[in-house]
Amino acid sequence: MKTVTNVFDLRSTLGAWREKGQRIAFVPTMGALHAGHLALVDHARKSAGKVVVSIFVNPTQFGPGEDFERYPRDLEADAEKLRDAGVDLLFAPPVDVIYPPGFATTVHVAGVSEGMEGARRPGHFDGVATVVARLLCLVLPDVAVFGQKDAQQCAVVMRLVADLGLPVEVRVAPTVREADGLALSSRNAYLTAAERTAAPALFRALLVAQLVHELGEKKPEKVLKAFRLALETEPLISLDSADLVDAATMRPVEKIDRSVLLAAAVKLGRTRLIDNVVFGG
Ligand code: PAF
Repeated sequence: MKTVTNVFDLRSTLGAWREKGQRIAFVPTMGALHAGHLALVDHARKSAGKVVVSIFVNPTQFGPGEDFERYPRDLEADAEKLRDAGVDLLFAPPVDVIYPPGFATTVHVAGVSEGMEGARRPGHFDGVATVVARLLCLVLPDVAVFGQKDAQQCAVVMRLVADLGLPVEVRVAPTVREADGLALSSRNAYLTAAERTAAPALFRALLVAQLVHELGEKKPEKVLKAFRLALETEPLISLDSADLVDAATMRPVEKIDRSVLLAAAVKLGRTRLIDNVVFGG
């Protein structure tokens, strides 16, 4: 695996592959890699001859008081995991390569980015959309792979790619979970032992809500109530947000008569975790 940190080296490596007719799959990440990221890499490897992964902790998607400073960073350990996973190229740029002096563009994806996490974390999806647009323009992959755990992010990226006509196929890979159901996340590293034991209650509560719908309940408020009641059985978890929206548009629904996304964020101590399920339709 080759590691590059600047645009010149990135483009010359990619250019040489393209001249040989290689397809390129891309997995953008912020590092602190776990099995969930490696599942995205696996998906990428099956989609193209060459796999590029970026590691960049993007400052513009963190709000004031969020965990940008303490976000886990270990480039060497990450590089080793990627090498073992058969990645061909690691792009690990410093901040001024992604945002050179004078950089003045912000990408705002209206609609899908404005509700839910977008409303609660102002500027977050502008940061995500801007960095993803920048990375896609630098790498120009045939395929880019994102994880379903960040469902709203996937919707934002798909809208962005469609609206700008970027010639890349966006693929969404399923959430990878621990045996007890906890969705893999770099932020799981922040959990104390007791919080880690409590954390799977989030996914269990999402499944309870899904089951309530599958048993016939079509009213979003009733399904959300079932979710909240199930979550309350775990005292270490406090609910931060729960949204039940159309899975494609991310807009609230009045009735569950189509594919919907139930997405939730919870707090365990200082750690905020997200997860979701898709059902209905
Ligand atoms: O999902 C992430 O890790 C980040 O939001 C992404 C897509 C790499 C953009 O910084």
